[in-house]
Amino acid sequence: MTARLAADAAGIAEAAAFLRAGERVAFPTETVYGLGGDATNASAVAAIFAAKGRPRFNPLIAHYASAEAAFADVIATPLAKSLAAAFWPGPLTLVLPRRAQSPVADLVSAGLPTLALRVPAHPLAQALLAAVARPIAAPSANRSGRISPTSAAHVLAELGGRIAAVIDGGDCRVGVESTVLDLTGTLTGARPRLLRPGGISLEALAPLTGALDLAPLAGDQQPLSPGMLRSHYAPTLPLRLHARDVAGDEALLAFGPPLPGAALVFQLSAAGNTEEAASRLYAGLRALDAEGGRLGLSGIAAMAIPETGLGRAVNDRLARAAVRDGGVDVD
Ligand code: TXA
Ligand code: MG
Repeated sequence: MTARLAADAAGIAEAAAFLRAGERVAFPTETVYGLGGDATNASAVAAIFAAKGRPRFNPLIAHYASAEAAFADVIATPLAKSLAAAFWPGPLTLVLPRRAQSPVADLVSAGLPTLALRVPAHPLAQALLAAVARPIAAPSANRSGRISPTSAAHVLAELGGRIAAVIDGGDCRVGVESTVLDLTGTLTGARPRLLRPGGISLEALAPLTGALDLAPLAGDQQPLSPGMLRSHYAPTLPLRLHARDVAGDEALLAFGPPLPGAALVFQLSAAGNTEEAASRLYAGLRALDAEGGRLGLSGIAAMAIPETGLGRAVNDRLARAAVRDGGVDVD
């Protein structure tokens, strides 16, 4: 049984006790729900991979209560410090070289010499990190290869029975995962590399980072950023992108005035706002997938979304959800 804990002091205390005892607890962040375990406990971390069915070569993000705590485990550059000052707590993850004396289990970073760090902004995540007083390793709380959860009900649908508890903090505000920025190359003069577009837009980062390296990694380098492999977040129904029309047996993921004629419509943002679309994306894909499946629809058609603001992250996730080539599912 997975306990559903209330978003209050008693719920936080119970969740912290589970985590300190090496159990798994899902908790809300401002992006998506995380599947947390004590990052300093190797067997707790191993159990995260097992609960998700996630390959062990795909590293996890370590979550901290403060930038100071996070930077104790890595070699922080001046750019890392200025990004942390600007965006933490918040939906930004920084990848930096880990320090040998870090107590974080090697399995968290899948044996890589780097560590991904994030200080989440959600008050319940903050309260939990403060109560546990250890870094928490937390991937998104979905089964590997599926859509990230943005509510406690989604978490229970994905992982009910496989984890000790979930803290029910309602819907996630941002709705897509954190932006992941690899700063390791900046130590030797390379540009920061965008590993995953997410809750902090590139427009917001640019004044601090300058131009980013956006190039996808070459095939043999992919294990350095395994979560960037395609075929991620896949719904069951086929997903068609940049739809300009929609068939009568299709569900429509709308952005702005909906195309006419769909069997079923989920509106991401009537006003055409990319932040609103991000916050509703995963709930929309889940709803269309479930209801469209029940109705026997042939697929989901998604209207085009601009590549600005959080639109970049939304398009990235839609592109992954549309891949149906049997590629590697690693999330
Ligand atoms: O918003 C988020 O980031 C959520 C919440 C729970 O914080 N977490 C999340 O975790 O999305 P996950 O495991 O689903 O995605 C982590 C991403 C993956 O693409 C992984 O490959 C990458 O970060 N990553 C983690 N550590 C890394 C490292 N040391 N080097 C390169 N990429 C890394
Ligand atoms: Mg994930």
